[in-house]
Amino acid sequence: MTFDEARALFPVLERVAYLNAGSFGPLASPTSEVIADQLRRDVERGRAGKPYVDEMQEARSALRGLIAALLETTPEHVALTSSTTDGCNIVLAGLGLRPDDEVVTTDAEHFGLAGPVFASGATVRVARVQELGPEEAIEAIVAEITARTRLLAVSHVLWSNGVRLDVHALKERTGLPVLVDGAQSVGAVPVDVRALDSTLPTSTRCASRGRGTSRRSRSSPAGATCPEGERCASIPAGSRSRR
Ligand SMILES: Cc1ncc(COP(=O)(O)O)c(C=O)c1O
Repeated sequence: MTFDEARALFPVLERVAYLNAGSFGPLASPTSEVIADQLRRDVERGRAGKPYVDEMQEARSALRGLIAALLETTPEHVALTSSTTDGCNIVLAGLGLRPDDEVVTTDAEHFGLAGPVFASGATVRVARVQELGPEEAIEAIVAEITARTRLLAVSHVLWSNGVRLDVHALKERTGLPVLVDGAQSVGAVPVDVRALDSTLPTSTRCASRGRGTSRRSRSSPAGATCPEGERCASIPAGSRSRR
């Protein structure tokens, strides 16, 4: 597909240069048609019964497969959530953090990650990266790590200044669990969750596995946390190709 063909899928682009690639990103015509069709069928046929549930499960499986390909992973490592914020909340809630645990994040996070981090019950240490380039930002994050750090929670691409953080380097350097908000990266830049030993993004777009992950959360149906040694990602079910 060419850029012109891709742009033609978004009618709003005929009128404006649409610069919001986040929660309020533009809708493509095929997307709105599928939503409208499903809503019409729900209204006419109801929303219950085995055929209905089977169809829903099939659609979810197909979506997991498409997203897995985008993330260089396999479908069983993808969980669908209703939003990035939801995915981050699932990961943070699953860790069961307490005030004597620390989470390191940055001052450039979207509330979709920052909200769950601050609501997690952990003590939050904030690295000041807003004015920094990618390498300096990693240094600033590492400088906030202490013996009590349980999780690093950062975006792959910072929504406020477009800086791309090398989350792989962060993981390699610290060995700590990393929760990556991939809302601004998945679909826009290459993402390979296989290369991350623990956690990733995505676009969901958030996912995590960590040493502190409880058994209950590991087997969470949302799948936002992974069994030891595996990687996973959670993706909003209505995920856009780019946010
Ligand atoms: C970096 C980042 N994280 C999280 C979000 C929130 O996404 P959602 O609406 O899927 O919760 C956005 C939305 O723009 C974002 O840019």
